[in-house]
Amino acid sequence: MTEELTQLEILRELEPVAEQNLNRHLSMAKDWHPHDYIPWDQGRNFAAMGGVDWEPEQSTLSEVARIAMITNLLTEDNLPSYHREISENFSQDGAWGTWVGRWTAEENRHGIVIRDYLVVTRGVDPVALEQARMIHMTTGAHSPDDWGGFLENVAYVTFQELATRVSHRNTGRVCDDPVADRMLQRVAADENLHMIFYRTLCAAGLDLVPDQALEAIVKVLTNFTMPGYGMPDFRRNGAMMAKHGIYDLRQHHEEVVAPVLKNWNIFGRNDFGPRGEQARERLAAYLEKLAADVVKFEEQRDRLLARERARELALV
Ligand SMILES: [Fe+2]
Ligand SMILES: [Fe+2]
Repeated sequence: MTEELTQLEILRELEPVAEQNLNRHLSMAKDWHPHDYIPWDQGRNFAAMGGVDWEPEQSTLSEVARIAMITNLLTEDNLPSYHREISENFSQDGAWGTWVGRWTAEENRHGIVIRDYLVVTRGVDPVALEQARMIHMTTGAHSPDDWGGFLENVAYVTFQELATRVSHRNTGRVCDDPVADRMLQRVAADENLHMIFYRTLCAAGLDLVPDQALEAIVKVLTNFTMPGYGMPDFRRNGAMMAKHGIYDLRQHHEEVVAPVLKNWNIFGRNDFGPRGEQARERLAAYLEKLAADVVKFEEQRDRLLARERARELALV
C-alpha cells in the first residue's frame, strides 16, 4: 500500500514529469494567429460608427450553431476563473509556473478568435453576447464543486479539455461555414494538446499515489458538469446542444470518459490498496449507470425529435 503524500510533496515529485511534458508541448504546439482565421471583408460598422446595428436576419447561423458558439465562447471567456483554480493548485515555480502561464495565454487566443469571427460575420447579437459575458465572468463559477488540490484539478481539466475539444469540433460542423469549421478545428487541436498534458500528469499521479489519485478521479467524474455551468440559460442551451449531438451523453461516455480511463488502464492495474479498490468499485457502478442513462437519453431524444417532425409535417 502506498503512503499518503501532501499536495506539496506530489507537486515536487512530479516536477520532472511536468518539465518533460512542458517541453514536449512546446515542441508540438503550432503558433497560429487569430487574424488569419477571420473573414475581415465581411465586416462593417455598427450604428455608433455610422453603420447598422445587429438584426437577427444578418446571421447565417442556425439556432443551434448560435447557442453552441455562445456557450463555447463564454466558457473560453471565463478563463480567469480557470486560471485562478489552476494557479492555486499547481505550483508557481519552475515548469509548473511556466505551464500555467503558457496554457493561459493559449486559452486566451480561443476567446479572441471566436469573438472576432462572431462580431465580424454578425453571427450573434453582440450586445446580448457582451451582457452574457459580464454576467458569466462576474459570477466566475464554473463548477458546482470546488476541486481541492492538485489531483482533483488535474483530473477535472483532463476531462474538461477533451470535452471542449469535442464541443468545438462539433460546433464547427453545424455552422455550415467552412471558415467557422476551420477556425474551430484549430481551437479543438489546441484543446487536444492541453488534454494530453493534463492526462499525462494525472497518469504520473496515479503511478505515484494510486489510491489518492483514483479517489480524486472518481470524485471528479461522478460530479462532472460541463464548464458552462452557471452561465445564463446553461440548462436550456446544454439540452439544445445535446439534442443536436454537439455534446451529448453518449459522446461524454464514449469520446471523453472511456478513452481517458482506458489510457490510464484503470481497470487493468494491480497497484491499488483497499481505498483504491473501493474507488474503482464506485467507478464501475458509475459507468454502468452512465451507459444506461445514455440509452434512456437517446430514447427520449428520438421521441422528442419524432414529435417535432410530426408537428412540422402537420404545419405544411
Ligand atoms: Fe480553450
Ligand atoms: Fe484548452
